[in-house]
Amino acid sequence: MAIVLALETSCDETAVAIVEDRTVHASVVSSQIDLHRQYGGIVPEVASREHVLTLGPAIEQALATAQLDWAAIDGIAATCAPGLVGALLVGVTAGKTLAMVHDKPFLGVHHLEGHIYATYLADPALEPPFLCLLVSGGHTSLIQVQDCGEYVLLGQTRDDAAGEAFDKVARLLDLGYPGGPVIDRLARDGQVVFALPEGNISQPDGSSHPYDSSFSGLKTAVLRLVGKLRSQSGEALPIADVAASFQHTVATALTKRAIACARDHQLSTIAVGGGVAANSGLRQQLQAAAAAQGLRVLFPPLSLCTDNAAMIACAAADHLNRGHESDLSLGAQSRMPL
Ligand code: KG4
Ligand code: ZN
Repeated sequence: MAIVLALETSCDETAVAIVEDRTVHASVVSSQIDLHRQYGGIVPEVASREHVLTLGPAIEQALATAQLDWAAIDGIAATCAPGLVGALLVGVTAGKTLAMVHDKPFLGVHHLEGHIYATYLADPALEPPFLCLLVSGGHTSLIQVQDCGEYVLLGQTRDDAAGEAFDKVARLLDLGYPGGPVIDRLARDGQVVFALPEGNISQPDGSSHPYDSSFSGLKTAVLRLVGKLRSQSGEALPIADVAASFQHTVATALTKRAIACARDHQLSTIAVGGGVAANSGLRQQLQAAAAAQGLRVLFPPLSLCTDNAAMIACAAADHLNRGHESDLSLGAQSRMPL
């Protein structure tokens, strides 16, 4: 049993949590989204500076919420990769310093491993093996979870992540940032009337890759469609129909790949994570397709799907219970395979 205090600063959320194995004692998430919205996307320098300002108070708030002091903490963890290096360094440096000052073990956690562990927090009875579909602003991955630290990346995007596609399409429709929630809302009033490319990846033998995806062609297709619709004189842009058609295409692409991957690898549970897990189109399509195949789908609450430190603490607790620890020379890396 380990009580871990974890820091997550890989992108635009400053998060601190205290978790005891699969039980959350405190989870503080301070979003910088309003700060970045004026730029239409995340500005790395601004993110790092904001983490520096927010992290200290967030740590104090987490300890106060959990009603614990440093003596009760068994280990300190921080996300060390992948992400914005300057942003990651804030959490890693703070985590290592706290570990040194309070004489606790330190553990650097891979951000994607954190997203996998969010599914254990959502369902503490969940046990591997299972398939994790991770769909966020930075990742679109299909990961076979075998055990703690044993992950097989079975599929990924070759270009834009699913959330990135939502954000880019929203930008070209002048809908603001982040785009996913706005498109999701608009799509409810629209019809799937435009055929858009799903983004299949060709393999050398001419077949499509069963699990990899591509969303940059879809974004370009939406751009062309919008240009064509705008040039049709006198007609207002059928924005809800564009949103519904785009969302349907993304949900279809993700559903097909996740179902094929789970079936081919005899995995009976698909656990979904990342901000795009909130998407109503994806939820409907994946749930229906999984039910038809006798598969279980686990959609954690959105607070666990989007970036948070509870998932990092949960992963770290499992590792610390197994005696794993990071060296205090650990740095931060923008990219790192799982
Ligand atoms: O996991 P997340 O909060 O942050 C990381 O990227 O790590 O994911 C953010 C992404 C954004 O691209 C946002 O547009 C997308 O999740 N998103 C959605 C929805 N809510 C958030 N995409 C589609 N439908 C939604 N309802
Ligand atoms: Zn994330």
